[in-house]
Amino acid sequence: MNLLTLETTCDETAAAVVTDELEVLASVVASQESLHQRFGGVVPEIASRAHVESILPVIQQTVSQAGLTLADLDAVAVANTPGLSGSLLVGLTAAKSLCLALDLPLLAVNHLQAHVYACKMASGQEVFPCVGMIVSGGHSNIYRCEGPTDFTPLGGTIDDAAGEAFDKVASLLGLPYPGGPAIGRVAKGGDPHKYKFPRPLLADRTRLAFSFSGLKTAVRYQTHGTGKLEERRKLDEQTIADTAASFQEAVVDCLVGKAELALTQTGYGTLCVGGGVAANHRLRERLEQSAKAGGYDLFIPPMNLCTDNAVMGAIAIERWKEGKFEELDLDIHPGLERVGT
Ligand code: KG4
Ligand code: ZN
Repeated sequence: MNLLTLETTCDETAAAVVTDELEVLASVVASQESLHQRFGGVVPEIASRAHVESILPVIQQTVSQAGLTLADLDAVAVANTPGLSGSLLVGLTAAKSLCLALDLPLLAVNHLQAHVYACKMASGQEVFPCVGMIVSGGHSNIYRCEGPTDFTPLGGTIDDAAGEAFDKVASLLGLPYPGGPAIGRVAKGGDPHKYKFPRPLLADRTRLAFSFSGLKTAVRYQTHGTGKLEERRKLDEQTIADTAASFQEAVVDCLVGKAELALTQTGYGTLCVGGGVAANHRLRERLEQSAKAGGYDLFIPPMNLCTDNAVMGAIAIERWKEGKFEELDLDIHPGLERVGT
């Protein structure tokens, strides 16, 4: 059985072909990074237009990389929630068109559940039940994951997502977009204890909540004072490195602390981490230390399966096995309200 999966929730146009044995026959990701770089963040209108341009070439490239033709496909899956409306629509429309033209069944993918499923794809091991932590540019959420598509939200950010904070702090430090990789790079030459940035909500053992907005402001005041940002100071290299390292350490403290709390609260012995921020070296290192000390199993996919990709859309195989097909009137759900479904 050959499943074509499509992923266009944000700013990557991605497709993959996977089998019902979860073998990956092909995977292609067309990044829009260069288009959004000068804006310091994803511009939704630009994202959806770029998806329109890329989606067909990406599908063609994926199918041919798999050594197949469209006639060899048995089903099409598409991430229809959550994400940017315009971006989601492009993937969904492409998926529906293929299903109509080729008379194939359509399957829906929840993008956040897919990020956790990437842990199973990467490890080849059963990871459920587990605590799932998704930390990306748009989300910082923690779930009780009883099965691949059986998620209960346990908590998350009350303001910015962790990746968003990385991107904004990078901009304050004059580093390029996306900020996460840039901060991770320069932080290696910095002192993580140089500046004492806040760890919002970390001490609150009753809530699985994050707050990164105040931390971002603390970095702004530390680096540029309280004056106008137009009159921002010129920072020397060491100050940039120390600020990046201290900021990163504060975010990592919050993420590791709440992941440990979620494991304690659920009594689960497995933590799965996904999303772009899970590509962060320091976070990975600290989680590995935590897993060793806490005696729990940790799954973090390699970098290319942490950031958005279509391989993780293999979660649709689970729905295929259960016969949970969609009608061609399937809609997008940009918000988070459907995560529990
Ligand atoms: O999951 P993702 O590719 O897209 C969505 O937001 O859904 O995540 C992108 C986010 C960006 O905010 C980026 O700065 C962050 O992930 N990121 C990182 C790293 N690589 C990407 N953050 C910290 N360290 C990294 N190495
Ligand atoms: Zn994502």
